[in-house]
Amino acid sequence: MSNQLLRVSGLSAGTEDKPILHDVSLAVGAGETHVLMGPNGAGKSTLGHVIMGDPAYQVSSGTIEFDGKDVTEDAADKRSLAGIFLSYQAPVEVPGVPLYSYLRTITQKRPELKMTARKFRARVGEIADQLDMGSSFLTRELNVGFSGGEKKKIEMLQLLLLRPKLAILDETDSGLDVDALSVVSRGIETYRADCDGALLVITHNTRILERLKVDRTHVMVQGHLVAEGPASLIDSIDEHGFEQFEKASAVAGGERA
Ligand SMILES: Nc1ncnc2c1ncn2[C@@H]1O[C@H](COP(=O)(O)OP(=O)(O)O)[C@@H](O)[C@H]1O
Ligand SMILES: [Mg+2]
Repeated sequence: MSNQLLRVSGLSAGTEDKPILHDVSLAVGAGETHVLMGPNGAGKSTLGHVIMGDPAYQVSSGTIEFDGKDVTEDAADKRSLAGIFLSYQAPVEVPGVPLYSYLRTITQKRPELKMTARKFRARVGEIADQLDMGSSFLTRELNVGFSGGEKKKIEMLQLLLLRPKLAILDETDSGLDVDALSVVSRGIETYRADCDGALLVITHNTRILERLKVDRTHVMVQGHLVAEGPASLIDSIDEHGFEQFEKASAVAGGERA
């Protein structure tokens, strides 16, 4: 398959003094839904951040191609404009910036999302309704004092407003109560239906996946992708955990050493 939206090839990356990802390759086609699973500390979030271009990490080898272009050296904001979106496991708080102004600023940078203030207000209101968000959300400072669930709703709002080609959702479901979880699921479904965007969902929680049609599942252990398979791989992980893959990873690590 040459026509992939995202193609990660032989990627090794880490912080200045710590290699984290080792020879990672994966490809996501336009409109596909992929899931990345793995035990704590495997490197899942790091992979998301490296694909997004987080300067905290350095790529030591390999490439990241997006929409037919090599973006390995591009800054995060350039990748964002190209259509990559990352929802952070722990969203940052930005005191002094009301959510509404923040959303207006990020959309104004995108020619394809140019709209009048009035249209923008209507669009934000429409999405906020879809996500069961009260209007008081919009005048509050970005993420300051928001609960974990509320922060995730704001990320879903950004997702639906920005309509990226690829959304990487990092543990978007962790620590959410049942109501918030259902809002997030609805946000993801709306994104899939309205934007026909691709998804890379990083999760521990298979419940969020029940309502998604998953095309491909990837398993990461100790910075290596150790398995890839169809949606049914999730059921096998549900049943047997990651132990089966941890053994495979020890073998792979041994071979490399
Ligand atoms: N910025 C960083 N500085 C130092 N170590 C990091 C950094 N980011 C991740 N790590 C380390 O890399 C490993 C993988 O972390 P992470 O990608 O967060 O795993 P996961 O998301 O799979 O739980 C962990 O050992 C973590 O401590
Ligand atoms: Mg993580």
